[in-house]
Amino acid sequence: MERPQVQYSSPPKIELKGVSKHFSMNGRPLHVLEKIDLCVGDGDFVSIIGPSGCGKSTLFNIISGLEEPTEGTILVDGQEMPHRLGSVGYMPQKDLLLPWRTILDNAILGLEIQGVRKSIARKEALRLLEEFGLRGFETSYPASLSGGMKQRAALLRTVLADKKVMLLDEPFGALDALTRTSMQEWLLRIWDVLRKTILFITHDVDEAVLLSNRVYVLTARPGRVKLVKDIRLPRPRTYDMVTSAAFVELKGELLEAIKEERIRALDEESLWVARASEHGGRKWT
Ligand SMILES: Nc1ncnc2c1ncn2[C@@H]1O[C@H](COP(=O)(O)OP(=O)(O)OP(=O)(O)O)[C@@H](O)[C@H]1O
Ligand SMILES: [Mg+2]
Repeated sequence: MERPQVQYSSPPKIELKGVSKHFSMNGRPLHVLEKIDLCVGDGDFVSIIGPSGCGKSTLFNIISGLEEPTEGTILVDGQEMPHRLGSVGYMPQKDLLLPWRTILDNAILGLEIQGVRKSIARKEALRLLEEFGLRGFETSYPASLSGGMKQRAALLRTVLADKKVMLLDEPFGALDALTRTSMQEWLLRIWDVLRKTILFITHDVDEAVLLSNRVYVLTARPGRVKLVKDIRLPRPRTYDMVTSAAFVELKGELLEAIKEERIRALDEESLWVARASEHGGRKWT
């Protein structure tokens, strides 16, 4: 069954207008994000790619309400939400499973924080365990699970928090290629069943093209939107599509954009290291 077209009718699910973020680093301003405009429709799947350190996780911290932007606005369902903490599901870059809790009790953490009774929360989690490939592991501890399983447990926790929007920060970043491929196909199935709106960060261009309706490429720090690419490949999508001409063309365009930014980011880094050693050298002479 083909998923219906995303609705961009008024209002979009999430909209960022001119979002900038500056931190202070050793007393000097660090411009991390600059005038980000971004739009995510209801039921959309949007990916963000960009060089390391360009502010992707910071952007998610801002959308989730953990951080405030220095300037710009964040609209959820067309409304500014000054107190949006807890209004979207967020799976941070590290899975953050608590080693002393079983998989089931890790999965229900978000519900417990929301005040849901443990017995009810566990019942909810057990209902989804099969779909997340964790049936039989409910009483296991994170240390005894494979990387893929841990990521699925963390995703289950995000899904159980029952928010319409899920922010997933490099959920498959640490997995081997084979596990990653099956997790991508699995996520597409889950997305189709649960009808969530997903914002997804990745460093993997194949992954971004395979999963998304649209991909945003950010520049090296300060992160600005360099390219917005609609991915008009048919759905349902499977990994076989990565060799199709349409896929390869989209990938080429995105890789070109990201390559320039990775080089810029590396140049900045070397400049920083050179300056630091120059500074260090003077100190010791
Ligand atoms: N709370 C903070 N205070 C000061 N600087 C911060 C803070 N949070 C993030 N930064 C800086 O902002 C920049 C962007 O960090 P961020 O984690 O958002 O990058 P990223 O694009 O997610 O990188 P990666 O791809 O490696 O995960 C980095 O230079 C980081 O050191
Ligand atoms: Mg990050």
